[in-house]
Amino acid sequence: MSTAHITLDARGRHLTLQDQNRERSFAALWLRERAPDTDTLDAQTGQRLIEAAQLPLDLTIEEAKVEGDMLRLQFSDAHRTMFPLATLRDAGEVSKSDTPEDLVLWDAGLATLPEADFAAALESDARLLDMLEALRCYGFVRVRGVPGDEDGMQALIDRIGPLRRTNWGGIADVKSVPQAYDLTMTQRGLEPHTDNPYRDPIPGYIWLHCLTNAADGGDSTLVDGFMAARRLREESPEHFECLTQLATEFLYTDDTTHLESEGPLIELDSQGRLHRVRFSNRTERVPAHDPDVLERYYAARQRFYELIISNELTVHLKLDPGEMLIMDNYRLFHGRTAFQLEGGVRHMRQGYVDRDSTASRRRMLQTLLSTTSKEELQ
Ligand SMILES: [Fe+2]
Repeated sequence: MSTAHITLDARGRHLTLQDQNRERSFAALWLRERAPDTDTLDAQTGQRLIEAAQLPLDLTIEEAKVEGDMLRLQFSDAHRTMFPLATLRDAGEVSKSDTPEDLVLWDAGLATLPEADFAAALESDARLLDMLEALRCYGFVRVRGVPGDEDGMQALIDRIGPLRRTNWGGIADVKSVPQAYDLTMTQRGLEPHTDNPYRDPIPGYIWLHCLTNAADGGDSTLVDGFMAARRLREESPEHFECLTQLATEFLYTDDTTHLESEGPLIELDSQGRLHRVRFSNRTERVPAHDPDVLERYYAARQRFYELIISNELTVHLKLDPGEMLIMDNYRLFHGRTAFQLEGGVRHMRQGYVDRDSTASRRRMLQTLLSTTSKEELQ
């Protein structure tokens, strides 16, 4: 039996639900446009059938009553509906945290790196979900047992979403070449960065596969950009605010390509939570704003930079042949230390997968596996 209790404000415009020690208020219009009945929402797709923008702005709730686990409502447009209380409990609300509560923000002290096994993730939905959950929580996962052929990652990419093709192709080489068109292909160290902020959309996940790594040096470095942003906010709210508000530009050009995009170094979502970081010294072209605006920006960027190159925040790892890293390019800064080939070979392959298909796969697996486990319990 439900212990839910409801009250309506005097005008019938807001309904307050007290349920399971929580209190939530709902606008009458919100309840009307989301009414879970087949006059309002399509039974199969859940998509809306009425035009929400045509609902009267002075719509009110004329009657509200809890009946068991349901909420019975009648609106001033004569529409009646029944809401399962559970759907109201789970309705999205504005978060007060800087990230979703279950993300694990880390620094150099991260004791155990999130790992997955290639064959297990390929064969088992549960292991694939574990891998995608680790990726979501930590922003990266190291995968072992990747086939040694050039497109060895492809089978696992196919389990998740389409490979994002760019002007460089699909899965592309990251190795030192004499005529490098990008600093990635030299032997120099690479400062922490996000990939390709000049694209739109920016690639969501970087898949980096190690075929050979006989070089001396060439460690991968990883920094949690959300942790760096959080530290910046704690120590200097003005710097943090500046980097969330001033959009800078990123540019890549070669003989056949001209890519440009813009955005702030720290981007927040509509709820004020950390959503995305950008940092690409090589390709950034900040516009010539007023000098005093830029003075604030340069100071803020410098402090952010100091944080993201600090030992305190940097995790080092060396990928061995047959291993790969999947990295969240909206959250992580990645780089590498300089290396000397001296007869050895360092050959990596890299591809991109978008965020929407990766998140979709994770949600579908969650639903599938929770349904399966419920059926097994019955
Ligand atoms: Fe990169």
